[in-house]
Amino acid sequence: METIRRIEEMKNAVRGLKSREKSVGFVPTMGYLHEGHLSLVRKSLNRTDSTVVSIFVNPAQFGPAEDFKDYPRDQTRDSEILTGLGVDYLFCPNQDEMYPPGYRTFVEVRDLQDRLCGESRKGHFKGVCTVVLKLFSIVRPDTAFFGQKDAQQAIILKRMVQDLNLDVRIEVLPIVREQDGLALSSRNIYLDSKQRRAALCLSKSLQEAEKMIAQGERRPAKIIRRIEELVQAEPLAKLEYAEVVDSENLDSVDCIKKHALVALAVHIGDVRLIDNLLVKI
Ligand code: PAJ
Repeated sequence: METIRRIEEMKNAVRGLKSREKSVGFVPTMGYLHEGHLSLVRKSLNRTDSTVVSIFVNPAQFGPAEDFKDYPRDQTRDSEILTGLGVDYLFCPNQDEMYPPGYRTFVEVRDLQDRLCGESRKGHFKGVCTVVLKLFSIVRPDTAFFGQKDAQQAIILKRMVQDLNLDVRIEVLPIVREQDGLALSSRNIYLDSKQRRAALCLSKSLQEAEKMIAQGERRPAKIIRRIEELVQAEPLAKLEYAEVVDSENLDSVDCIKKHALVALAVHIGDVRLIDNLLVKI
């Protein structure tokens, strides 16, 4: 694996791949890799001739009171894992390379960026879209792989690709979970053992929602009420939102029809966790 820190070098490497007619798969990450990230990397390795993984903790997507400084980082370990898997290029630019002095351009996907997580994380998706568009224009992937874990992010990025006529296919892969159901997240390491147990209220309440839907419940209000009950029963948990929305445009739905997204965000102490369930009937 070749590790690249400069944009121009990354562009050159991609030029080489394209001239040899190699398809390019791309997995953008913020590092501190876990099996969720690696499921995307493995899929890319299987599907495309060459795989580029990026690690960049993107300051533009963190609010001033958020955990940019404390975000977990371990590039040595990440790099060893990616080398072991057979990744071709690791792109890890520094902050100045991506946002040099004078940087002024940002991308917004209106309305979708304000829903769900966007309500409490103002500017978050603007930061995500901006960095992903920059990475796309540097890496020029044929296919980019994202996780369903960040369902809203995937929906917004698909919209951006469509709206801006970008030549990249977005693939969204299922949520990877711990055995007990907790969705893998780089932020899980912030949880102490009590909080780790409390964090199960996210996946547990989604399992309950799934059961209700399987038994014929179609009213979002009923499902949301049950999720609220389950999260509120956990003393260490504080519900930020639980919603049932259209899985394409994130609009609220008043009856679950063919498909829907049940999404929630919960604070366990200082740690904000998200999870979701994609419903297909
Ligand atoms: P990060 O949180 O590092 O996640 C990178 C990718 O891994 C995202 O597509 C995310 O959805 C996916 N992922 C995370 N946890 C997962 C899990 N448990 N199962 C499956 N996939 C999972 O998302 C970001 O970084 C950033 O916003 C980024 C897109 C890199 C832009 O900065």
